[in-house]
Amino acid sequence: MTSLAGKHILLGISGGIAAYKCAELTRRLSERGAEVRVVMTTAAKEFITPLTMQAVSGHPVADSLLDPAAEASMGHIELAKWADIVLLAPATADLIARIAAGMGNDLLSTLVLATDSPIAVSPAMNQQMYMNQATQENIATLKRRGLHIWGPAAGQQACGDVGMGRMLEPMDLVHLCERFFQADLHEQKPLEGTSLLITAGPTREAIDPVRYISNHSSGKMGFSIAEAAAQLGAKVTLVSGPVSLATPENVERINVESAEQMHSAVMKHAPSHAIFIACAAVADFKPNQISEQKLKKTADEDGMTIQMIKNPDIVASVAAMTEQRPFTIGFAAETQEVEKYARDKLERKNLDMICANDVSVQGQGFNSDNNALHLYWKNGDKALPLAAKSELGKAIMLEVVARLETIRCAN
Ligand code: PMT
Repeated sequence: MTSLAGKHILLGISGGIAAYKCAELTRRLSERGAEVRVVMTTAAKEFITPLTMQAVSGHPVADSLLDPAAEASMGHIELAKWADIVLLAPATADLIARIAAGMGNDLLSTLVLATDSPIAVSPAMNQQMYMNQATQENIATLKRRGLHIWGPAAGQQACGDVGMGRMLEPMDLVHLCERFFQADLHEQKPLEGTSLLITAGPTREAIDPVRYISNHSSGKMGFSIAEAAAQLGAKVTLVSGPVSLATPENVERINVESAEQMHSAVMKHAPSHAIFIACAAVADFKPNQISEQKLKKTADEDGMTIQMIKNPDIVASVAAMTEQRPFTIGFAAETQEVEKYARDKLERKNLDMICANDVSVQGQGFNSDNNALHLYWKNGDKALPLAAKSELGKAIMLEVVARLETIRCAN
């Protein structure tokens, strides 16, 4: 799938004919799991209506620096901080000039000044205007400052001219965004020097030498997180229940079968790890007794009763550590009232974050290649819409990096 899952894209539209392509662009970005918020200049509204952009993005469009209602919901500074990337498309010669000059004379140019997120500029204008020395110098200035310049393309223009100046097609911009976030992930090593312990897969609770109680966890979700954490530079220890997955590169794996064994392995290694993620589907109960011999059917009994006792709660045990406690993240597999039950587990188990999934929805959750998650922590939350588990692994780890950074800054 895509590296756009859960990404915040601030789309800045200025007044060019290519603005009409922004509805399509927004839909394609959203389909891939990105959250898009739109800011329009006054001139942009002559080419596409804010109502259209509100409908396709699912959020009200911001268009004024001095709108008290908009400032009360998500103010312009908040919006500037919210963005993972600011995409200016179409970026007219006028917008490019104002940004190059460092002006803040409308909402969009002010946001560009106020953000420390990466900015991508997709120029769109008449070919003569594009070739003008002033425009070329302004673009060179933006490049020198580290802004990404995506396009323009050459071809027939709305005014009838032929030449450089067409905005890239929506799908080209989508692919550039995807590539940007992939490169971003692989180039950075924000977890260098950090260690992460993670559980994955099911547990097996033996009944007798040949039978056990287990569940449908494939381990894919946990292994994807382990892989992403290793790619981000972490030293990763993966405690895995019985699954048939290959160990991700640069990950140390400890195989276990039962919840008891998983508990022992985790408690042994937790004090030497900075982060713990409990992704395993651990059996809450196990048979009170494991029969030494294979249980036999008898002719006079139509049923059998197995007495179950509680397993240790692994994630709660780690979260209760009083010394060398890792930053502790749990999962919540729910079939109803997902937020309520997830937040309850977050609090009851004393976790720093919880990743909730609705495992009643077809095509996600247990033993699927895809999943949709909602992350909750004490003062916030983030939706990670349906995506490949490999993408979600990266998205979760990037959010963990962000949470740790926020905590570090607050201390
Ligand atoms: O493995 P896949 O096929 O890829 O599927 C992924 C998944 C659906 C298994 C995964 O996304 C997921 O939801 N994992 C948690 C499953 C679970 O057991 O959820 P829970 O709500 O019952 O448990 C809450 C938390 O407590 C979990 O972090 C769990 O690991 C932990 N727990 C539960 C019981 C126990 N005895 N010890 C624990 O640590």
